[in-house]
Amino acid sequence: KIIILDFGSQFTQLIARRVRELNVYCEIHPFNNIPALDSTVKGVILSGSPSSVRQENAPFVDLNLFKSYPLLAVCYGAQFIAQQSGGNVEASATREYGRANLSFVNNDNPLFKGILVDSQVWMSHGDSITKVPDHFEIIASTAEVKVAGYQVKGEQTYAIQFHPEVTHSTDGKTLLSNFLVGICGCSQDWTSDAFAETTIADLKAQLGDDKVVLALSGGVDSSVAAVLLHKAIGKNLHCIFVDNGLLRKNEYESVLEQYKDFGLNIKGVDAKDRFLGELAGVEDPEQKRKIIGRVFIEVFDDEAHQIKDVKWLAQGTIYPDVIESVSVNGPSATIKSHHNVGGLPDFMKLKVVEPLKTLFKDEVRRVGNTLGLESFILGRHPFPGPGLGIRIIGEVTAEKIAILQEADHIYIQNLKDAGLYDQIWQAGAIFLPVRSVGVMGDERTYENVIALRAVESLDGMTADWCHLPYPVLAKISNEIINKVRGINRVVYDISSKPPATIEWE
Ligand code: XMP
Repeated sequence: KIIILDFGSQFTQLIARRVRELNVYCEIHPFNNIPALDSTVKGVILSGSPSSVRQENAPFVDLNLFKSYPLLAVCYGAQFIAQQSGGNVEASATREYGRANLSFVNNDNPLFKGILVDSQVWMSHGDSITKVPDHFEIIASTAEVKVAGYQVKGEQTYAIQFHPEVTHSTDGKTLLSNFLVGICGCSQDWTSDAFAETTIADLKAQLGDDKVVLALSGGVDSSVAAVLLHKAIGKNLHCIFVDNGLLRKNEYESVLEQYKDFGLNIKGVDAKDRFLGELAGVEDPEQKRKIIGRVFIEVFDDEAHQIKDVKWLAQGTIYPDVIESVSVNGPSATIKSHHNVGGLPDFMKLKVVEPLKTLFKDEVRRVGNTLGLESFILGRHPFPGPGLGIRIIGEVTAEKIAILQEADHIYIQNLKDAGLYDQIWQAGAIFLPVRSVGVMGDERTYENVIALRAVESLDGMTADWCHLPYPVLAKISNEIINKVRGINRVVYDISSKPPATIEWE
């Protein structure tokens, strides 16, 4: 594996993605919490950073730790090594962001094999290396940046000022491949097939004949986790799928059907009335979320108790949830929640197994594909745990849920028919507690409003509204108003996140 040391650059996760796209397994670790390095480590990458090596308290690592490993330092990493070795790093006259082209490349150097003069690279730095010590060899330059790449002579230490991980560096992938394969000797065997195979074997060994319980949601992560576990331990995996009454139209039935087709040992629990009862009269969004969360735990705990001798709780946690990254304001504090163990529901006292915790979202999809999960499950938009409960503004009632389910169904179906669904990160309809006047036939109406939301995003942290084609919006609006009783007006949400959020509540 490859270890990526994070100095806090916004691109660190992207480095990991690129390394994995080359079928090499890698892990991100914060520079101030370096894991023990053993023979499974084939090389180390130092990331960029928003800090400057000229600052006091700039991120620091002891380079001696990596003496016996090939090292690739990017941006801040490159400046750090240069400075530590007696070179000079100074503030650039102009901060350099964006495209540049290599004006000199040493093609005999293994890092730059196959990368030619003129190759476009992506710069993003405020400091520059202005002098390197004699035992450094400059292996690439641009017109502005003489030290765009160097190697420490006689060592497997390489550094570059530009960012090979961004696609604007056109030969970035070649460079990373040169490092990973040519220099580190990685074998490129980290594929979704291999992941599935070794994970299933590991789960078998770890779990033996133990019983495991898992909450299925219909989402990608819990589904892929379930199928992996099912392949490893078969009927000893007990899946629970709770119908909270806040799912999309027909979702519960159709997803349950798919899971059964897969041979999963699954119990569907109809808890619609329980959720609805607890939500009656509640208008406050946070309170609604808390109630839905609490009732889910109660229902799940009841069900888990009915499985005799269950020892493990499986979760679909993925890598972005567990990466301990370095924030701009210094190393991020590891936040540990202090559970009052006595007060926890029983299932939370189980041992936890998380088969996807090393994977990024797109890798989860690929593994799901390898396992034969259908695009029906793999390609679906994210859907919040509290479901339609937070897409009905104000009090949730059975009648409003039915109206919203119809409107949402028409919306999503039209996006699919227009071939837009897969290009959108997330879409859904929202029921507004606002009534407005309309006219249908000769009659005056006074009915509710449906808002439509569709966003583009990479991770849900930031988002922009989708510029859906007017003809598609027109068709959706028409169909909703004509077919869904209780709705006489449709509006489209054109807010980005921030300052709005994706969900309305
Ligand atoms: P916001 O509304 O915060 O949503 O911009 C960002 C992403 O998170 C999803 N979301 C949730 N997912 N439980 C979940 O599992 C929740 O309580 C929850 N709230 C928001 C939201 O759908 C979007 O994808």
